[in-house]
Amino acid sequence: MDSADWDARYAAAPELVWSDQPNRFVVEELGDVPPGRAVDLAAGEGRNAVWLAGRGWQVTAVDFSPVAVARGRELAAARGVPVDWRVADVTAEPLEPAAYDLALVAYLHLPPADLAGVLGRAREALRPGGRIVVVGHDRANLTDGVGGPQDAAILLTPESVVAALDGLRVARAETARRPVVRPDGSTVDALDTVVVATHP
Ligand SMILES: C[S@@+](CC[C@H](N)C(=O)[O-])C[C@H]1O[C@@H](n2cnc3c(N)ncnc32)[C@H](O)[C@@H]1O
Repeated sequence: MDSADWDARYAAAPELVWSDQPNRFVVEELGDVPPGRAVDLAAGEGRNAVWLAGRGWQVTAVDFSPVAVARGRELAAARGVPVDWRVADVTAEPLEPAAYDLALVAYLHLPPADLAGVLGRAREALRPGGRIVVVGHDRANLTDGVGGPQDAAILLTPESVVAALDGLRVARAETARRPVVRPDGSTVDALDTVVVATHP
């Protein structure tokens, strides 16, 4: 999907598409980490960026959908937190090298070479001691989970993400269960790739 497709998807939704609550793995992995400088790549409507900013992080949030970024700005303003918003394509946007304590990539699904490029630049943007958190729909979702893109080529595996993070220390790389409540109240598990790695 290009930025116009994403804009149309966001504009068609009367409310926030991804909610105003941070992703559970982002909370799990970053809830106890002292704040620093963060970049959220493909930040969408900003649920994670705004949560981080509320915890004292200095956050740059990048997404190529102007509609999503406008919603992110509104959410940040409603919470009274500062976020540096940028409308840009993360496959092309330069990142300051060795400048960030955290790079977050949540549910960004691209052709493998494009995603590897984004992850490679995110890795180079980390300061020594910085970390990258990557969360996305796992390929196993196609057979054993729910939701997310149905194209195996753009789904993640822990191995495919780790392969793009050469030189970092992998702290977590797994397929994790994320319970999703259905409209009828029943719960099913979505399967997410979760990878956390730190700059030595
Ligand atoms: C599934 S949403 C996830 C949003 C957010 N990370 C979250 O977890 O709530 C995927 C986002 O990726 C953005 N996106 C996709 N390709 C992109 C690209 N090449 N550059 C910037 N943003 C992109 C879309 O606009 C969309 O907001």
